[in-house]
Amino acid sequence: MKPIKISPSILSSDFSRLGEEAGRMEACKADMLHIDVMDGSFVPNITLGQPVIKAIRKCTSMPFDVHLMIKEPLRFIESFADAGADIITFHVESDSPVGETIDYIRSLGCAASVSVKPKTDIEEVFPFLDRLAMVLIMTVEPGFGGQLFIEDTLLKISSLRAECIRRGLNPDIQVDGGINDKTIAQAAKAGANVFVAGSAVFNAQQPSQAINNLRRLAEEAFKW
Ligand code: DX5
Ligand code: ZN
Repeated sequence: MKPIKISPSILSSDFSRLGEEAGRMEACKADMLHIDVMDGSFVPNITLGQPVIKAIRKCTSMPFDVHLMIKEPLRFIESFADAGADIITFHVESDSPVGETIDYIRSLGCAASVSVKPKTDIEEVFPFLDRLAMVLIMTVEPGFGGQLFIEDTLLKISSLRAECIRRGLNPDIQVDGGINDKTIAQAAKAGANVFVAGSAVFNAQQPSQAINNLRRLAEEAFKW
């Protein structure tokens, strides 16, 4: 059985104290830290880049789960690996060649992951599955935190889990967007085991309790 992992998204944290926020998530027993990189072109928003990641790398030993929502990921993979990324996710809808980008991420010693937006067919990642440590299924349109979970994406999660089982593969399946106490069980039941949570963790009165609770709900619902 795949372990359940909770990856708080620092997009919802206090950007004036990013280092402390990263340390706080580690103390709250998050499994990794989700870092959303947006270029204002692939998505209609701009967030942060390599120098900021490098700076917060000193504040925690948690794995960095870097989600690149950028147009040309291949050009920047090396600099994100150097900045301290452990997992690098890029989008199948980006302008970079998918197979080459995966191989490059792996050659730098990072875990490779590919993401699909809500309207993209999950079959687009199937040719690359045997080289991927993780697949990220977006459960909102990428660009902003605090949006509502799109239920249509549940079907993609279950078809991906079924395809992996059929081929004897076992990548992590991550979901990102609108994950909360209700939606986490739906996504886990469909076959996801890694959960990004921005507002559900950072807006909670007690983030450690929120993380515990999310993990428990996912563990109860995940039967794969
Ligand atoms: C959206 C980002 C998400 C976002 C999730 O484009 O990829 O990681 O921070 O935020 P919530 O959990 O608030 O939907
Ligand atoms: Zn994200």
